[in-house]
Amino acid sequence: MLSHKRDHYCGLLNESNVNETVHLSGWVQRTRDLGGVVFVWLRDREGLVQLVFDQDVCGAEIFELGRGLRAEYVVTVSGIVKKRDEGAINKDLATGTIEVFVKDAVLLNKSETPPIYIDDKADENELVRLKYRYLDLRRPSMQQKLRLRSRVVNCIRRELDDDGFTEVETPILSKSTPEGARDFLVPSRLHPGTFYALPQSPQIYKQLLMLAGFDKYYQIARCFRDEDNRADRQPEFTQCDIEMSFIDEEDIYAIVEKVFARIFREIKGIELQLPLPRMPWIEAMERFGSDKPDTRFGMELVNLTDKLGRTGFVVFDQAIENGGRVEAVNAKGLASMTRKQIDSLAEYVKTYRAKGLPYMTFTADGNVKSSFNKFMTPELVETVRREMNAEPGDIVFFGADKKAVVWQALGALRCEIARRHDMIDHDKYNLFWVTEFPLFEYSEEEGRWVAAHHPFTSWYAEDNIYLDTDREKVRSRAYDLVMNGIELASGSIRIHRADMQAQMFDMIGLSAEEAHHRFGFLLDAFKYGAPPHGGLAFGIDRLVMLLTDSDSLRDIIAFPKANSANCLMMETPADVRPDQLEILKIRVDLPDDAE
Ligand code: AMO
Ligand code: AMP
Repeated sequence: MLSHKRDHYCGLLNESNVNETVHLSGWVQRTRDLGGVVFVWLRDREGLVQLVFDQDVCGAEIFELGRGLRAEYVVTVSGIVKKRDEGAINKDLATGTIEVFVKDAVLLNKSETPPIYIDDKADENELVRLKYRYLDLRRPSMQQKLRLRSRVVNCIRRELDDDGFTEVETPILSKSTPEGARDFLVPSRLHPGTFYALPQSPQIYKQLLMLAGFDKYYQIARCFRDEDNRADRQPEFTQCDIEMSFIDEEDIYAIVEKVFARIFREIKGIELQLPLPRMPWIEAMERFGSDKPDTRFGMELVNLTDKLGRTGFVVFDQAIENGGRVEAVNAKGLASMTRKQIDSLAEYVKTYRAKGLPYMTFTADGNVKSSFNKFMTPELVETVRREMNAEPGDIVFFGADKKAVVWQALGALRCEIARRHDMIDHDKYNLFWVTEFPLFEYSEEEGRWVAAHHPFTSWYAEDNIYLDTDREKVRSRAYDLVMNGIELASGSIRIHRADMQAQMFDMIGLSAEEAHHRFGFLLDAFKYGAPPHGGLAFGIDRLVMLLTDSDSLRDIIAFPKANSANCLMMETPADVRPDQLEILKIRVDLPDDAE
């Protein structure tokens, strides 16, 4: 009997195999029974090929086997590759100029009718796809994405290896690292009442590895963050985590650029122009209203605050009186937007805290209209026309509020308009560094200053003068790598002195006691000769998402979590047996209305 060990992949067969006997194994994509012959598309990881079961060639028994095949049955066949007649060529199939006349076949396994079509053209419900992920993963696009992902990781490893980096694994059962999200906790059996935290990143370990003298470290590291899922966030994800000693920003930029250049060259066939451009944070915010600007299109923010004077329009005047500002974007050529489209944009910016979306339309026939006609003086129109470079056919949208709100709302608005009106060139990869981030952010929620990146980030010595008076102005030595509006990587030059680290903890309101409790080991470690060091981490999931032009991280993670951090396939999270809780000395106390 024919074994299941193949000698060729279906999708790799071509005309050079004509007249060869080949042995193939895979899944039945579909069958077509024409009475005297049965055509079967056989699929493996490389693609499809057409099998022909012809009674005259394979005999009655195998022919019957062929007729009995159904979608997703697993078969192994041997047969002869033949060139197809001109009229029978299938241009939609990569192997469409040939077919395989089966001589022998064995049915290896049957399949129930699958709940989804194993076909990229089928538009299946994502919840069903996630529930039957192992079937979803049979689709060619999913196979290609995960294989590309594997090549990306391989590329990273080779580059960093060539550059003398050491890959070190750090613990998953760990202690809380402050990256701004909530921790996933794991109860300890041997020490009831205490918990490990799953690492939000290997941040502290990698700094300790620098202290230990490893000099150049990296890790393809799994990170865990208990935060709300979004298209570009998963509760567990993978970073390429890097740290180096006796270096400055330039060394980090250089090595990361080398890694990215290699990825783009090997995976995309694109030569990145190095060095990558850089943009100070303040410029990114002023021009794009975002610290991760999408620069594939224009529509930049313009600050009108000093140009407007008193307009009489309360929304503008009040924003300015309250120390805020008025800024605007010009959506060129979109004056014919409908009222409904505009209202929908106004709704959209509300999710970014804007209270409204005033606009001014420069109609194609030379008129000017606005959502605040009553207050629209000729001077105001002229100022807007001049400062916004507005021409007939343009529509200008305004943000009037506190600086942070205006930036956030208009920054999101320009991206949304570009998406809705198809202004984005999807073949562009705009990759650049954003530098000189603020060291602190004021958290309204907590009523205190918090570290904008994380509290191990150092700052420019010349900004020491602002530490007590003007915290907002202190620039950290942190940098992000941004691509097409997404933050891919983030890092910084670290604090490496115990006194400075203690000062940092103090500035973000961590008492000496609390700092000692949480990070005492780090402060202690810094007493034993910590070298100057720095690094960064980039999100492998996000990078692969961009390289494959996917809309969601779920498409490039084999077994992702759905929207509420649950896995529909395994049905996790799940309850556990009472004796498991007993041993951990944990009692679950759900409110009555919980499921
Ligand atoms: P940061 O928290 O910015 O920095 O993370 C670095 C990169 O990891 C990716 N990333 C994510 N990807 C998917 N889902 C998530 N929930 C998620 N969160 C982050 C992003 C991000 O740019 N220890 C520091 C790095 C350092 O300072 O060296 C850190 O973790 O691509
Ligand atoms: P109204 O005076 O309410 O008709 O609003 C005139 C224009 O100003 C509309 O385009 C509103 O979206 C906008 N608007 C009203 N209130 C605010 C506000 N507080 N902040 C920003 N825009 C506003």
